[in-house]
Amino acid sequence: MRFDGKKVLVTGATSGVGRETAKLFAQHGAAVIVTGRNESRGKAVVEDLATASAPARFIAADLNVSDDVRRLIQEAGDVDILVNNAGFWELAPTAEATEAGLDAMFAVNVKAPFLLTAAYAPAMAGNGGGAIVNVSTMVADRGQAGMAGYGAAKAALESLTRSWAAEYGPQGVRVNAVALGPTMTPAMDPMAHMLPTFVAAIPLGRAAQPIEIANAIAYLCSEESSFITGAVVPVDGGRQSVL
Ligand SMILES: NC(=O)c1ccc[n+]([C@@H]2O[C@H](COP(=O)([O-])OP(=O)(O)OC[C@H]3O[C@@H](n4cnc5c(N)ncnc54)[C@H](OP(=O)(O)O)[C@@H]3O)[C@@H](O)[C@H]2O)c1
Repeated sequence: MRFDGKKVLVTGATSGVGRETAKLFAQHGAAVIVTGRNESRGKAVVEDLATASAPARFIAADLNVSDDVRRLIQEAGDVDILVNNAGFWELAPTAEATEAGLDAMFAVNVKAPFLLTAAYAPAMAGNGGGAIVNVSTMVADRGQAGMAGYGAAKAALESLTRSWAAEYGPQGVRVNAVALGPTMTPAMDPMAHMLPTFVAAIPLGRAAQPIEIANAIAYLCSEESSFITGAVVPVDGGRQSVL
């Protein structure tokens, strides 16, 4: 896999899966734009990429704020590859979930990818093609108590993945998603006590490392996956495939 001459925007690249994805793209020759809210973590990721052949830069943006998403698009300029990775969950029973939390989950997990794709996919098409990967979860497809709003938001993102594949495929833009199982990032820390239960149901017998997700994302953006679009690929150690 090589991404020489490609410009890649990875949202949520200040931590976890996004950080590993940004590093991987940079190692394979891409110029990477790292974005997230946390400036110090963002700058640290860019410093980490400094040894890579192409330049990387950080743009701070809060994807819960539409004006910030629009500013990010303006500052970043056109890209060849978009990874809609930023996301979060509010773990709460439905009756105790906050309206602000629900709005934020839909803003970050659904609306921001929508605005970014609306801005970038036509430009990718105009440049001869491109690739978009959306980061989802097995909870989009399987009920999980305490994650109703999050699961619904990621289910919407998976639906968008298929619609965008239909809409932009004829213009050479491929759109896919990865559906994660438990992955060892800071987002898992509050759920660490539930990890043994999760892992017991995973055929491969462990949670994922972020680089294993990054490898799948990069593959779906590479020439090696040139005939794959509209797919939601489980990257979950087999969890979704078994009882
Ligand atoms: N870890 C898992 O087990 C798991 C399982 C299924 C799906 N996922 C999905 O995988 C993706 C990556 O998560 P992760 O596990 O790598 O979590 P993480 O380590 O907590 O990273 C989340 C990233 O999203 C960014 N982000 C969150 N809210 C944001 C906002 N309002 N504006 C801009 N950026 C925001 C964070 O950046 P800042 O903090 O700098 O804003 C951070 O870079 C998410 O979409 C998540 O839903 C994770």
